[in-house]
Amino acid sequence: MNLYPLAKPFIGLIGPETAHRLTVRALAMGLGPNVPTSADPILKTMLWGREFASPIGLAAGFDKHGEAIAASLALGFGFTEIGSITPKPQPGNPRPRVFRLTRDRAVINRYGFNSEGTEAAARRLRAYRDGGGTGLLGVNLGKNKESEDAALDYAKGAAALGRFADYVVVNVSSPNTPGLRALQGKDELAAIVARTRDALPGPAPPLLVKLAPDLTQEDKHHIAAVALDAPVDGLIISNTTTARPDGLKSPHANEAGGLSGAPLMAPSTALLAEFFALTKGKLPLIGVGGIASAADAYAKIRAGASLVQLYTAMVFEGPGLVPAITHGLADLLRRDGFASVADAVGADGTRQASAADR
Ligand SMILES: Cc1cc2nc3c(=O)[nH]c(=O)nc-3n(C[C@H](O)[C@H](O)[C@H](O)COP(=O)(O)O)c2cc1C
Repeated sequence: MNLYPLAKPFIGLIGPETAHRLTVRALAMGLGPNVPTSADPILKTMLWGREFASPIGLAAGFDKHGEAIAASLALGFGFTEIGSITPKPQPGNPRPRVFRLTRDRAVINRYGFNSEGTEAAARRLRAYRDGGGTGLLGVNLGKNKESEDAALDYAKGAAALGRFADYVVVNVSSPNTPGLRALQGKDELAAIVARTRDALPGPAPPLLVKLAPDLTQEDKHHIAAVALDAPVDGLIISNTTTARPDGLKSPHANEAGGLSGAPLMAPSTALLAEFFALTKGKLPLIGVGGIASAADAYAKIRAGASLVQLYTAMVFEGPGLVPAITHGLADLLRRDGFASVADAVGADGTRQASAADR
């Protein structure tokens, strides 16, 4: 059942946070569509010993508390990522804290890690797995605002939730927790990755780091070195941006917070290509930021992404976007003579690599 076409005019009238809550609740109650994940063999992607039927996933921040795992996957995604989850429950920033930039096909949010905490998440994840849920699931970890020991927070999240996850994400890139993005610094990041990995229960799931798009050249080189040395199992590029690209037309364009959606497509894809070059194609990358079409998803793959994710475009286009992108991506791969997603990963890389070497 797809109620979205009926609900869309109504959703546009209510505040974005209320719309977000209602959508998650409706999905959790089983009111969402039930789109089988594509069985097109060209989209099948093997990564970290897991088989992704489709490389298109739901990005973190939609199902922050793990309330609608099965229903999110039933939108047609190949995987979903819940979180960010902090060790202790915390309320996040005061409202309003989410803004639609409709004319720009963008959102600004400053939720600030509103989280029900790891205990509540563990209960839901256990229920999902015990109920036979086998969907591919990333668990995205954050830190509590008041915590003095960030590495300990990520380690706590890993210890509590790692056993349920197909991959675990250290999120050091949300712009709405003071000091968080400084954890992308070389020594801080290496320490966090080491302590988080030590805390993961065996058999340990892959450990990924999610990056901000607003990095200096020095940051990028340090992060790539840590990612290869630590090592981590992959990078997610990127989170929302604190930049406000020229030309934003919406009245909310200057709200504080992280910008996502269409204006993030070009900068996050450029960063993805840079990291593909900096890590010499050795690390799996998940490309996220501004995907609203099959061509966008394909551009991320050609820039170096093995998997992609989206969130904001669904706010404007509804869930029908997922099967449309999925089928369109398969068509684009065939058009260009690729036999699989993996074949196309980094296809634009030669040009990018030589640009990064200059
Ligand atoms: C309302 C909202 C909340 C988000 N919350 C989180 C979060 O808790 N953790 C995280 O890692 N990313 C979060 N994100 C970032 C997304 O996962 C994604 O990286 C970003 O929005 C870019 O993708 P998009 O342009 O397809 O939305 C959030 C994004 C939005 C729009």
